[in-house]
Amino acid sequence: MSLINQFYTLSDGFKLPKLGFGTFNEQFVQYQEKYNEAIECGYRFFDTASLYESERPLGAALKDCGLPREEFIIESKLWYDEMGYDGAKRALERSLKRLGTDYLDLYLIHWPRQTGAFDEDWKELDRQTWRALEEMVEEGTVKHLGTSNFLPHHLEALLPHCNIKPVVNQLELHPGYSQEAAVAYCHEKKIQPIAYCPLARQHPLCIAEDGILAYLAKQYGKSIQQIMLRFLIQKGILPIPGADRKEYMLANMDIFDFDLTAEELSILSCMPQNTWLGEHPDFSIPDRKTNQDDI
Ligand SMILES: NC(=O)c1ccc[n+]([C@@H]2O[C@H](COP(=O)([O-])OP(=O)(O)OC[C@H]3O[C@@H](n4cnc5c(N)ncnc54)[C@H](OP(=O)(O)O)[C@@H]3O)[C@@H](O)[C@H]2O)c1
Repeated sequence: MSLINQFYTLSDGFKLPKLGFGTFNEQFVQYQEKYNEAIECGYRFFDTASLYESERPLGAALKDCGLPREEFIIESKLWYDEMGYDGAKRALERSLKRLGTDYLDLYLIHWPRQTGAFDEDWKELDRQTWRALEEMVEEGTVKHLGTSNFLPHHLEALLPHCNIKPVVNQLELHPGYSQEAAVAYCHEKKIQPIAYCPLARQHPLCIAEDGILAYLAKQYGKSIQQIMLRFLIQKGILPIPGADRKEYMLANMDIFDFDLTAEELSILSCMPQNTWLGEHPDFSIPDRKTNQDDI
């Protein structure tokens, strides 16, 4: 079994394991045992968010595991109903309390805009929110900053106003939705792309038995999911799969002992782009609210 001992070095020198663990999963989001298991398997980089309701059980698992806080990289996000200068400050306080920690390694704006209305208000809201995040870094309650669901035009509006640049950007990325333009932009700006839903939440077109992913899985003696994760890593992307079962947690780590060829990477990059999950940063913004009364 390969351990996650390979790292991406971010633009500010911070090192992130090439694989993280996602915590937005209806099967286990509230169950501390699942995070205990993930820690036992060797996961050290955890992605959470105020929206997911996974901060509290994850924090409990981190506390109970007996390992020092510094061994872990905890990434959380503030939701669009927590944006703005004051909103962001209050959101961080709540996240720290739920996680039972006094700092986050990474703090992300979860979504670039609050509505799909074609107005410019979101730009100022992003800038005000970012100003609060920069102060958190100065105070030491957050170590590094990032964005989530920011496409190039969202980053273009924010970057000129940043004193501290985002070091990561989370996007939906997987074979069948590879968002090459957005990934190339992130790489050019030295922003590490992180792939959410890296397994396309088991989209039927990805796991089809007669598909290209199944063919490659057979060739390499790996599962379709392992091919999907390996593809992302070879594209310089950091996947954060969620997994309920321990066997999946372990299998998802066992992807560092083979290489897809350049031709296979090209084939996977050029798969029909028809497996996205349907939430677009500008046009189909998820209608969800955070629970802000739980602390
Ligand atoms: N920034 C954002 O807006 C955003 C949006 C969505 C998600 N995320 C983050 O991204 C993370 C990952 O996304 P996701 O969990 O929604 O989707 P995903 O990782 O693409 O897929 C998770 C599904 O794949 C299954 N699975 C995991 N490993 C497997 C394996 N080795 N073999 C077979 N099936 C396997 C899981 O099964 P089980 O159900 O049995 O575990 C689950 O049904 C989330 O947990 C969250 O942290 C971020």
